[in-house]
Amino acid sequence: MATSTVNLVVAACNNLGIGFEGRIPWRIKQDLAFFKKITSTTQDPEKQNAVVMGRKTWFSIPAKFRPLPKRINVVLSRELPEAPKGALLARNFADPMEMLTTGSLSWKVESVFVIGGSSVYEEAMMSDRFPCRLYLTRVFGDFKCDTFIPSPDDHGFQKVPNPDDIPSETLTENDLDFRFEVYEKN
Ligand SMILES: NC(=O)c1ccc[n+]([C@@H]2O[C@H](COP(=O)([O-])OP(=O)(O)OC[C@H]3O[C@@H](n4cnc5c(N)ncnc54)[C@H](OP(=O)(O)O)[C@@H]3O)[C@@H](O)[C@H]2O)c1
Repeated sequence: MATSTVNLVVAACNNLGIGFEGRIPWRIKQDLAFFKKITSTTQDPEKQNAVVMGRKTWFSIPAKFRPLPKRINVVLSRELPEAPKGALLARNFADPMEMLTTGSLSWKVESVFVIGGSSVYEEAMMSDRFPCRLYLTRVFGDFKCDTFIPSPDDHGFQKVPNPDDIPSETLTENDLDFRFEVYEKN
């Protein structure tokens, strides 16, 4: 059975912005690689992780890259008439969370990752129905954004030491500093 912990993965800049006009305002290859690794890797080769995202985040992924491979893709939408090809469709946040963590799909799911956008992160961060782990890539730059995450500090999240396989020092790519941080809320 999948763990009931829900994992959030997000990269945010100085003002906690995460997107502008349907895309991520920066490009950090090491962060993309981190996202791919953490959302794809399972201990049990028989299982997959699930990625849960809002409709706009799904369509922000270039068509040739979706569904995200080797992961169960779940798209939230109240408007889409049918499931996007290669993904499951959910009409609310709670039902897929239950189905993936303890319900009918949990036997083949190792970990559940919420991958955006803002209202989906917000719903996960505000919920007290399950423990949450937040993988936050702090991007130390000022970018124009129209999409934001709530402050983890204001919503009961506490910073925890990074696991051994996640570097904790500030890294730099193309003159942009960034750092992988991990937060938890029980
Ligand atoms: N920096 C990062 O790590 C990161 C990660 C992900 C996304 N982003 C960026 O964030 C932006 C997209 O995020 P966004 O916040 O604008 O949109 P979004 O959350 O991806 O999608 C919003 C849509 O999802 C559906 N939805 C959300 N919550 C739902 C719920 N509880 N039940 C049913 N449907 C639900 C609704 O679709 P319907 O209107 O169809 O009902 C809603 O209009 C893009 O710029 C993207 O690049 C950044």
